[in-house]
Amino acid sequence: MDLVPVELYYEEFGQGFPVILMHGYPLNHTIWMPVVERLQAHARVITPDLRGHGKSPVTDGEYSMRLMAEDIHALMNRLDIPKAVLVGHSMAGYVSLAFARAYPGRLAGLAMVASQAEADSSEKRQGRYITAEEVGRKGVRQVAKSMLPKLTPRKELTADLMEIMLKTPKKGVIGTLKGMAERPDALEWLAEIEVPAVVIAGEQDAIIPLERARTMTQMLRRGWLVEIPEAAHMPMLETPQVVADTIQQLVDLAAA
Ligand code: MLT
Repeated sequence: MDLVPVELYYEEFGQGFPVILMHGYPLNHTIWMPVVERLQAHARVITPDLRGHGKSPVTDGEYSMRLMAEDIHALMNRLDIPKAVLVGHSMAGYVSLAFARAYPGRLAGLAMVASQAEADSSEKRQGRYITAEEVGRKGVRQVAKSMLPKLTPRKELTADLMEIMLKTPKKGVIGTLKGMAERPDALEWLAEIEVPAVVIAGEQDAIIPLERARTMTQMLRRGWLVEIPEAAHMPMLETPQVVADTIQQLVDLAAA
């Protein structure tokens, strides 16, 4: 498959060691703003919109995690960043793992936020194709409505999250669903990651079971786990201070 990167939309804050904060599906870079506010005094923080999301280009077909990783690689080249700490939320955690595999020399540290290394079960994979087909026929509203209660129990966050999801282009949602469905299992491979890696997990996460975070941490040579009792699938919005402090710790280790 040809890996032709697109020029991602991004925002940039602060100075210091480069940290790229990547949002999950079907969201955009704005979910990271509460963390950016806390981190920008300590690091150079870059928040892209991934392909098919937010203000980034929308393309046809499947968005493999490897292809999305290629977009991040192209962004790093564009910004003259030799090595960065990658922070991947949920689907972007899958992208981070694809990046780590393709470009280990460009990775200084890794944070997996509300994410996992396992591939989909065949049932889950089939479900994604059914959802993709529904989005093609009816648009993103139905998907957004069903995802909203799974993202967070916090009512004060739901209006903004709904607005973000409704703005995500139909093609972007479909391409990403197919890409997630086809992602390879990366669990065994985690042992090859040589850089410091932190796993951040909300104990109330209704999308990724906590067990996945624990299993992943055990496989990482330089990994540690931060479990957050008050958080669900959106710890960057639910408990931004804990997330910012943890990323800061990771950056200190990566830059040492
Ligand atoms: C996400 O939050 O990025 C997705 O829900 C992850 C997934 O569906 O596997």
